[in-house]
Parts: sequence; C-alpha cells; structure tokens
Amino acid sequence: MDLNEALYTTRAMRRVSSDPIPADVVQSMLDAAIRSPSGGNTQNWRWLTVTDRGTVNELGVLYSEAWVELNATFYKGVKEAATERGDDMTLRVISSSQWLADNFDQVPLVVLPYHRSDPSGASIYPAVWSLMLAARGHGVGTTLTTLLGMFKQAEVAELLGVPSDKGWQNAAAIPCGYPLGRWGVAKRAPVHEVVYEERWGETPEWTVSEPLWEA
Ligand SMILES: Cc1cc2nc3c(=O)[nH]c(=O)nc-3n(C[C@H](O)[C@H](O)[C@H](O)COP(=O)(O)O)c2cc1C
Repeated sequence: MDLNEALYTTRAMRRVSSDPIPADVVQSMLDAAIRSPSGGNTQNWRWLTVTDRGTVNELGVLYSEAWVELNATFYKGVKEAATERGDDMTLRVISSSQWLADNFDQVPLVVLPYHRSDPSGASIYPAVWSLMLAARGHGVGTTLTTLLGMFKQAEVAELLGVPSDKGWQNAAAIPCGYPLGRWGVAKRAPVHEVVYEERWGETPEWTVSEPLWEA
C-alpha cells in the first residue's frame, strides 16, 4: 500500500466484523509495531493480544462501564451541546463510540500495549500508531482507545494478570477487526489553520484547503 494512503486513511474504525484475523497478519502488525522508536531504544513495552471470547467479553463489560463513566464526567453535556449547535462530526464520533461500547465483545482481537519506566510517557505512541498503520496495510481496522486505562486500569490488570506492582501501565486498548464500513480520508481542520511559522500565532501565507493525497 502507498504510504500516503495509509497515513491519510487510517481512521478510527470502530465498526468491525467478528471475523477472526489470521495469525500471520497479527504477527506482522506486532512485528511492525516493535520496529518503532522509543526513548533511548529502551523498548519498555509489552503487547498483550486477547482473542479469547470470554476475556474479550469481560473487557467489553469493563469498556461499557468506562464509556458510561466518561459520559458522566469529561463528556458530560457534550452530546447535548453538539446537538444544539448541529455539530454532526461530534455526533458521528459519539454514535460510533456508542457502537463500539455496545459491541466490544464482538471484536475478534484486542491489542493492549503496556509500558513502564518512561517519564515522558511518549515512547509507546509511535509503536501504537505503527501497529495501526500496519493493520491498515492488511485491511484490518483499528481504534486507539484509552477508556480502559483511564477508568478500569486495576480491573483490566487483574483480569489479564498484569504485574502492575512492577510498574506496567496500560497505554491503550486497540480493538482490531475487518471493517464493516469503508475507508476514507480523515477529516480534519485544514493544515494552514493549525500551523504557525517562526513564532506562535504567525499563520503561514500558504493555504492547503483540500487533502494533498486523494484516492
Ligand atoms: C489518545 C487517543 C485516545 C482515544 N480514546 C478513544 C476511546 O477511548 N474510545 C474511542 O472510541 N475512541 C478513542 N479515540 C479515537 C478518536 O476518537 C478518533 O481517533 C478521532 O475521533 C478521529 O477519528 P477519525 O480518524 O476516524 O476521524 C482516541 C484517540 C486518541 C488519539
């Protein structure tokens, strides 16, 4: 796959089928992930893959509870405010997130990266994104989710036997599966609106109104 196609179209693919992902594809995703950089090349990561239906089901229960907690706290009033101002993009994200919360138990594979001894907390994310790009290359949809780590860290550690006392922290849970929908270019605010040149607040003279890669 063309690199730009992967960069532009690796969306949050929450609606996925329950069809299993072949072992060689999973291995390829993980092997690509661990080629990523980490601070000092410390590679302080472990990657937990979960396919067992009972365990995914239990993760799904915890994920649904975390989703409810998110909506009662950080997201409180977000849906109502988005409805009021006709913000379809936010409403689509909420509806798709609700779908994932309702169907997490159907996901064929969940990858949970763990990290430790990383004061910046940044070393895991290039690898997470590489996993997602590699999945995209295989036609596998992924979503980077952090709800379980935010609200259910201890419960997930207990469920999966994670030695939290040794410093291992959950960085994300990445449900993976073959998409039910279609891939498309990620919609974002145009690049010239979020770039400054030389000094904060100095917007560029150039504009890029359409994505520079198209299918
Ligand atoms: C750090 C981070 C945490 C996220 N956590 C969640 C999550 O817990 N649940 C979820 O459904 N999506 C989560 N997302 C996915 C974002 O909502 C998604 O990437 C964003 O809406 C853009 O989606 P798009 O690429 O399909 O346009 C997270 C994304 C990031 C980068």
